[in-house]
Amino acid sequence: MERADKTALITGGSRGIGYELAKLCAQDGYDVVLVARHQEPLERAADALESTWGITTMTIPKDLSRPESAREIHDELRHENIHVDILVNNAAARPTPARFDETDLEITEDLIRTNVVTLTNLTRRFVAPMVERGAGRILNVSSVAGELPSPPFGVYAATKGYVSTLSTVLARQLEPAGITVTVLVPGWTDTEMAWDAFEALDIDPETREILSPEDVAKAGYDGLLSGHTHVIPGQQYREAIRSELTTRASDIGP
Ligand SMILES: NC(=O)c1ccc[n+]([C@@H]2O[C@H](COP(=O)([O-])OP(=O)(O)OC[C@H]3O[C@@H](n4cnc5c(N)ncnc54)[C@H](OP(=O)(O)O)[C@@H]3O)[C@@H](O)[C@H]2O)c1
Repeated sequence: MERADKTALITGGSRGIGYELAKLCAQDGYDVVLVARHQEPLERAADALESTWGITTMTIPKDLSRPESAREIHDELRHENIHVDILVNNAAARPTPARFDETDLEITEDLIRTNVVTLTNLTRRFVAPMVERGAGRILNVSSVAGELPSPPFGVYAATKGYVSTLSTVLARQLEPAGITVTVLVPGWTDTEMAWDAFEALDIDPETREILSPEDVAKAGYDGLLSGHTHVIPGQQYREAIRSELTTRASDIGP
């Protein structure tokens, strides 16, 4: 990959919301680094971005549940002398259906490593040079499941609560350093992850408002560029979260 003028690093950029975010970055002239586990879909996504927008891409096949994955990605980019201007922490492990006392601990720890540990590690590594340059943008993809009581989602919901809280804290802490941090909070979105979850959690999709990955990504990308901290696509999801916050506020007692 040639040294880029501006580069976006997008985890989970091979399909779904991440790929739509990659398209928006490419459209704006960002060179794009895509990370996901499987090489072939990564290559397909990268080829499509290059041929449509004439940008340069790099693909890094990596399992983000592995403890050393963030360091390895950082090292690869440093070796190529690539500076990341936009970091999109989008990849996540899926919710698992079992009740908490019956969950497989190995799967749960992989989920926490992917959604929490590696996300934090990547952010820490890439934000330091952003602070040195006095500029940089971070978009973290959370979930409505992290904002509302969502028992079926178990530990997944808790990891998304972490992503939302960390993003809010960092947005305030890093603003004086010239860094914006945005958290995108999607509800059900028409991707492989959602259809897998509908089946695993025995949810009837007809009963849910399903957003398009294009609309979710566009809302997130616009929020990223304008430096908004919270982006919640879809009127119904915004109202559900507002109503939950009102209920909690009225429930605060000594
Ligand atoms: N879809 C929804 O309804 C919904 C709702 C709320 C929040 N979200 C959030 O939106 C984000 C994107 O989800 P999506 O719906 O677009 O999912 P998706 O279509 O299943 O895409 C997930 C992407 O992440 C990659 N990925 C998954 N596990 C990985 C791992 N361990 N290491 C590296 N890459 C990994 C996948 O590629 P590989 O499989 O090749 O690794 C793929 O590129 C996630 O943070 C998700 O929690 C989604």
